[in-house]
Amino acid sequence: MASCWQVTGKQGFLIAPEPVTDPLPFLSNTMRSAVGEIMDVASCLPQLVAEGRCREACLALPIPNFSGSDVILDERAAERLHQAYAFLSNGYLWQPGEEPTRQLPRTLAIPFVQLSARVKRPPTLSYTNTQLANWRRLDPAGEIAVENIKAVQMFQPLPDEEWFWVLHIVIEARGAPAVVAGTRLVQAAKLNDIDQIERQLEIIRSGLETIIELAGRMEEGCRPEVYYETLRPFLFAHPDGVVFDGVQAFGGKPQTFLGQTGAQSALIPAICASLGLRHARSELTTYLETVRAYMPEPHRRFVAGLDGQVVRDCVSSTVSQNSVRTLYNSCIEKVVEFRRLHLGLAANYIASRMDNPRGTGGTDFMRWLKHMTRETTEQML
Ligand code: HEM
Repeated sequence: MASCWQVTGKQGFLIAPEPVTDPLPFLSNTMRSAVGEIMDVASCLPQLVAEGRCREACLALPIPNFSGSDVILDERAAERLHQAYAFLSNGYLWQPGEEPTRQLPRTLAIPFVQLSARVKRPPTLSYTNTQLANWRRLDPAGEIAVENIKAVQMFQPLPDEEWFWVLHIVIEARGAPAVVAGTRLVQAAKLNDIDQIERQLEIIRSGLETIIELAGRMEEGCRPEVYYETLRPFLFAHPDGVVFDGVQAFGGKPQTFLGQTGAQSALIPAICASLGLRHARSELTTYLETVRAYMPEPHRRFVAGLDGQVVRDCVSSTVSQNSVRTLYNSCIEKVVEFRRLHLGLAANYIASRMDNPRGTGGTDFMRWLKHMTRETTEQML
């Protein structure tokens, strides 16, 4: 059976064909009542957080055993459960009005680690939980568009939070044709098929234009101060590591993870890889490689398998016409335009609000986002 993380031309890296919102039908009978209780708490998380009762509710949860291979019968149901625990865990660690804690209780720690083994990603909140698998359509036959998508799981009852997730989700879907065009571009370059190269570069450029247009709509529904003050605090992993109570494999030692970030999306990395864009080895590229472990495994392989150096070689070769080179450079310009716009978002939503800004992964992100933008500009042919 095809993985739900197979990359498609319609939805790109979003879970396919759509997320399972209720995992109960995909569980063995013996699990259903305990998991039903957990899903009820996950669905009420925004209210529990708002009322300061998240910790109390999490401590009272049952501890189902998700470790057997025949316990969860659908990959997407395992994702929904992983997502529920990822949100509950960060809700628990960062409950507003309480001292932050690094101690995850056994009611969350044991099942979360079992589910993480199943989905092959770390037991921490990631972009996969918050965006790739966090949507449902209002009209089941309708498009993945801002008017037709709702988030499945939230931290707080705030429209700004929902807009933040939904806009990224729509960007992933609308960027999908550019991702598929990227794989075709590399193939066409291997065959030196100039017509096909032009066709795919046009799709990539138009995909980037759509991504830029959508990303520019962030403030329409997500106020920077609301993001910074109320949503961002939930996205961090504890800097000193999290202690997973009752998880023998960790032997009581704190486990350190990176916080949730858009850098865990494969969309821009895939487009850049297919264009053959490279960045000099640095603290920044190491960080970007590390965050790949937080992507679904098929996406890591997808990006790793895309090498657009052949595209650059083909475009810069003497036989290729000037129009191809111009088209290729216009794609690079669009990547630069995205990165400039994105830099503005990072400044407005985060950096301008704090001294010595650090990203959820702890990096000096303004410096390196600028650096990446500059390095992209330098790769015009
Ligand atoms: C208010 C909106 C946004 C803010 C505040 C924001 C913030 C950040 C920050 C601080 C980083 C540095 C990484 C880190 O510290 O973990 C980052 C990286 C990144 N973000 Fe965003 N981001 C936003 C929207 C988006 C959108 C809409 C996308 C589109 C998919 C995106 C894609 C990326 C990518 C691909 C990176 C890695 C750097 C690169 O390749 O240019 N972000 N973001």
